[in-house]
Amino acid sequence: MTRDIQNHLLFEVATEVAHKVGGIYSVLKSKAPITVAEYRERYTLLGPLHYESAQIEVEEIPLSDPMVEKALASMSERGVRWLYGRWLIEGAPRVLLFDIHSADHMLNEWKSDLWNIAGIPTPDHDSETNEAILLGYLVAWFLGELVYHDRERAVICHCHEWLAGVALPLCRKRKIDVTTIFTTHATLLGRYLCAGSTDFYNNLKNFDVDAEAGKRGIYHRYCIERSATHTADVFTTVSHITAYESEHLLKRKPDGVLPNGLNVVKFSAVHEFQNLHAMKKEKINEFVKGHFYGNYDFDLENTLYFFIAGRYEFRNKGADFFIESLARLNHRLKEAGSKMTVVAFIIMPGKINSYTVETLKGQAVVKQLEGTISEVQKKIGERLFEHCARFPNTHNVAHAGGDEVPSIDELIKPADRVLLKRRIFALKRDGLPPIVTHNMTEDATDPVLNQIRRVQLFNRPEDRVKIIFHPEFLNANNPILSLDYEEFVRGCHLGVFPSYYEPWGYTPAECTVMGVPSITTNLSGFGCYMEDLIENTSDYGIYIVDRREKSVDESINQLVDYMFDFTQKTRRQRINQRNRTERLSDLLDWKRMGLEYIKARQLSLKRAYPDKFKNGANPFNNSLNLKLTRPLSVPGSPRDKIGLMTPGDLGSLQDAAQGLESDDYAGFKLGDNDEDDEDNHYPLTLRG
Ligand code: UDP
Ligand code: G6P
Ligand code: GLC
Repeated sequence: MTRDIQNHLLFEVATEVAHKVGGIYSVLKSKAPITVAEYRERYTLLGPLHYESAQIEVEEIPLSDPMVEKALASMSERGVRWLYGRWLIEGAPRVLLFDIHSADHMLNEWKSDLWNIAGIPTPDHDSETNEAILLGYLVAWFLGELVYHDRERAVICHCHEWLAGVALPLCRKRKIDVTTIFTTHATLLGRYLCAGSTDFYNNLKNFDVDAEAGKRGIYHRYCIERSATHTADVFTTVSHITAYESEHLLKRKPDGVLPNGLNVVKFSAVHEFQNLHAMKKEKINEFVKGHFYGNYDFDLENTLYFFIAGRYEFRNKGADFFIESLARLNHRLKEAGSKMTVVAFIIMPGKINSYTVETLKGQAVVKQLEGTISEVQKKIGERLFEHCARFPNTHNVAHAGGDEVPSIDELIKPADRVLLKRRIFALKRDGLPPIVTHNMTEDATDPVLNQIRRVQLFNRPEDRVKIIFHPEFLNANNPILSLDYEEFVRGCHLGVFPSYYEPWGYTPAECTVMGVPSITTNLSGFGCYMEDLIENTSDYGIYIVDRREKSVDESINQLVDYMFDFTQKTRRQRINQRNRTERLSDLLDWKRMGLEYIKARQLSLKRAYPDKFKNGANPFNNSLNLKLTRPLSVPGSPRDKIGLMTPGDLGSLQDAAQGLESDDYAGFKLGDNDEDDEDNHYPLTLRG
């Protein structure tokens, strides 16, 4: 059937719609403004309904599209519950969230159907897979109903990650008249193999994928992922490194790369972000004074805040590297007699009960001290005023004997001293400041705690590197360290993300747009992307640790070197570097990155409706072609690259659209193969 492709509908399906887990939430949320601007009401995000997060993130609205209404009516008749509304984020995209458990009674039937049509076996106990099946069947059901009622408009269904991928084989098998895109943000096998002790990247080509999946008990999940990969009209990943991995582990070469962007907010005053850094750092200072009470003997003016943050994947996210390198940094700083102190935060949600008493007490005693001091301060002020104001009446000013200003004993009375002493005594503590803020349910076996114990970073007074493990994501409503993640990042000096497995890695990208330097690796999609684009990334506050060619020990030492060099910078140098980092923001803006999504969608339409693209016709008549450039294999001048090259350009999205094949993974080739014065020395040189 031929449909109107210009006014096509776009559905993006993911489990992180209005529900935060990791980076996919950041993709959808930050991309919303540009996608809504392009599609308006023709764009809807589909996902599972999590009542708790939807309550906060989604505002219910009435259905406005009669076709969608009809499609949902027949689902409601069969007992399916859903929520239609606006996601309360910038761009306010429409969302349709299915209460997947309202379809629980159909699960067994759907599981046997999945076996019959796609040969995918599914065990009973895997609730994550069961939920993926429920979501996939509901999405396919909805799309089937929709294109049955709506015979006019073409429909693109874009699924993110295997958890949202079950709809793809269903659309293909049932010949639902939609065109599909599958974007994988990682591969299951990649994540699992890297988390173990496999030499992943050197063996990528050699894994017996079925056997490896079977050994890890994820064969059924792998089948879903592989089937989504092969049944989508267009298959994409978020970076070249993951494209390469997907080709070998999922056995389909991606049509292209859709790198992740950010919604870059530019302040009207250029240095506003620097002021924000100072303000947010002050909040972290407050927390640190409380946490280190009794041992607060270092100078906050000479203290740097480093951090690692993300889902708790100890090895994949490089927490192991971070802790080891901190121990070596501690040693180096001590040896060098450095006056600098580094407070290193680890923000990774682990299995926790609550804040520890020590942590809460630290904040409380310091608050009390502050309260008492301001009371005393007020009294001192009053006494001072009284003394000075009355002095001419009670004394002969002309012959005053130096007692115009009261003595300290007159100002601080014995009662004040007693009160102050009590507060000071409350600051005494027997042990050292804790390394973890929460009680952990598996304290004795927790990998982060155990490694901290092994390297003995115990926050001793002589340590130049202090460590604080906060095993919960940050939130401004937390009783301690009450900052949102973004505020916290702004207040820090350096993000450290030495990942071993990181298809993209939003955390360093987010640092960059906030003007905070960060360390990443050449095994992260983001690191490869930046390295490919910019000469001397470290001048711009993007340090890239080589985890590909170097041994573990060498990589860790390189990381230590980066951190040590950072501690040697003067404040002025840090400020200048932050300015340079922030200047990279535009490279990560969705306005630039989003072009790849447009290309992927056009390719999917082309594959579904080839007649409309006959003889090189472009039914969209848009300016996209102007923005596309020649493939990377043709060298371009740097200027070409800034102005014209679209960011994820693997060549293949374009080439695939023209029926060509491309075989290189640019940016990832493995084995085979006054403030501003200083800025002038750093013209932004993009690689040509
Ligand atoms: N994040 C957060 N709160 C925190 C720490 C991290 O919201 O306390 C977010 C961070 O902003 C980022 C996401 O978690 O967008 C992690 O995404 P990334 O791509 O780095 O890794 P993923 O978890 O997807 O593997
Ligand atoms: C920002 C502020 C400055 C402040 C500086 C601290 O640049 O605008 O007023 O001095 O931050 O930088 P630091 O790297 O020492 O935290
Ligand atoms: C995945 C990856 C991460 C990426 C994110 C968004 O969860 O682990 O590296 O940034 O998806 O694409």
